[in-house]
Amino acid sequence: MANQAPVAWVTGGTGGIGTAICRSLADAGYLVVAGYHNPDKAKIWLETQQADGYNNIALSGVDLSDHNACLEGAREIHEKHGPISVLVNCAGITRDGTMKKMSYEQWYQVIDTNLNSVFNTCRSVIEGMLENGYGRIINISSINGRKGQFGQVNYAAAKAGMHGLTMSLAQETATKGITVNTVSPGYIATDMVMAVPEKVRESIIAQIPAGRLGEPEEIARCVAFLASDDAGFINGSTISANGGQFFV
Ligand code: CAA
Repeated sequence: MANQAPVAWVTGGTGGIGTAICRSLADAGYLVVAGYHNPDKAKIWLETQQADGYNNIALSGVDLSDHNACLEGAREIHEKHGPISVLVNCAGITRDGTMKKMSYEQWYQVIDTNLNSVFNTCRSVIEGMLENGYGRIINISSINGRKGQFGQVNYAAAKAGMHGLTMSLAQETATKGITVNTVSPGYIATDMVMAVPEKVRESIIAQIPAGRLGEPEEIARCVAFLASDDAGFINGSTISANGGQFFV
């Protein structure tokens, strides 16, 4: 039988926060399509989800920095599973370094993967959502897109750009049943944060009033709420989840 569940496309779905988001949306009844970058890792990841009872998760290996590949990928998801109701932009990388040492590649890779990808996916789903008169777009930004961060001119610029895109697109779609919001995590216990040199990481944790890193599930619950009907009047907003480290 064809899939009857609403479809959620989660880019970066196999990552630390992405995995928690996929599971949370699957728990809420969505057929979740998890975007991945590394096919070998993705295969093992999917087997793990299935072993844990998540049989309503599928994979999509679109290169998010390739505009046409994204259009095609979204079309394939629609054909295979049905119209995309929810898009979560969670794919992201870091290439940290101070400006004086940062190469153009470090700048460009981060802007391409973390920001251009968001245009590409939103552009790929927006016409379908407008036709359906329904949609939820949730962009995973970062505390550092609001406050900046030593060593992250590239990442902070991309994450700040996400907020501008979110607020603008929200205004374009507000009368059409589509909401566009941002979740801005602080420092969460994922491989990305664990890759920060230990000494630097310890000094960052010391600045978090909660005294700890966040858990991926604490971000996933924000996403599930924004994806729900209960959040229909929340539009163009950001939910900050950072243990009190920064207020917007
Ligand atoms: N503020 C002020 N000065 C600082 C500083 C800070 N936060 N951190 C380092 N410095 C100083 C050092 O003391 C040193 O000073 P001197 O030159 O006077 O000795 C100088 O800056 C070092 O500069 P370098 O260019 O040589 O820096 P580096 O190569 O040693 O390391 C870095 C730079 C790679 C960016 C390193 O600081 C780092 O990894 N920082 C963490 C960045 C970070 O927070 N990344 C977050 C990743 S997780 C994520 O992004 C998820 C999310 O959304 C939150």
